[in-house]
Amino acid sequence: MPAAPEPEILAAFEAAKGFMPPHEGLALYAAAVEAGRLGLPLLEVGTYCGRSTILLADAARRAGVTALTVDHHRGSEEQQPGWDYHDPATVDPEIGLMDTLPTFRRTLHRAGLEDHVVALVGRSPQVAAVWNTPVGLVFVDGGHTDEHASADYEGWAPHLAEGGLLAIHDVFPDPRDEFTGQAPYRVYLRALASGAFTEVSATDSLRVLRRTGAGI
Ligand SMILES: C[S@@+](CC[C@H](N)C(=O)[O-])C[C@H]1O[C@@H](n2cnc3c(N)ncnc32)[C@H](O)[C@@H]1O
Repeated sequence: MPAAPEPEILAAFEAAKGFMPPHEGLALYAAAVEAGRLGLPLLEVGTYCGRSTILLADAARRAGVTALTVDHHRGSEEQQPGWDYHDPATVDPEIGLMDTLPTFRRTLHRAGLEDHVVALVGRSPQVAAVWNTPVGLVFVDGGHTDEHASADYEGWAPHLAEGGLLAIHDVFPDPRDEFTGQAPYRVYLRALASGAFTEVSATDSLRVLRRTGAGI
């Protein structure tokens, strides 16, 4: 049986603003619990308002490790005003730009998980460039352009320990199914083609791969 969150964690996840559907969230949670057994931090790229972070934070709590979540909190391309995924409530009226950090902090506080998460506020490649600790999970759910998805993979996959899990969201092999582009699918193909990763599970658009070799 894959590990499942307690009802109150599942309820907090389902109540949180964000983009992760429940069945994919459950698969992510199971992967995070498994990865937590390595005793290393669990890293997410793409915090947004903390919906998926709740799951990583609870898995981290179970494992006695820390969840790390990276976001500049200014939103991806498709979340900007005028685009399908824009939520006007995420705009800071004082500066007129998106700022999802306050909502993220409220989400974590309400879920009682603040102590298990370190929020890294900045551009993913910039944070990755100064990062120097192995992680047990890399969950890629940041920008969906080729530039951003590739940079997330190139920046963070090198920090993934042997046996650690690489989870990629929004992997759409069929272009008719995708809503935000196929860059995550291309990253998934690249990881498999590298020979460093072996597929563990596929749950709709969530793919989980294990590091079974060196490189990216
Ligand atoms: C699809 S949302 C994440 C959804 C979230 N995981 C959830 O469960 O609701 C993508 C997030 O990635 C962030 N993002 C996009 N490109 C980024 C970059 N280069 N560096 C840091 N964050 C980035 C955006 O600000 C946005 O909050």
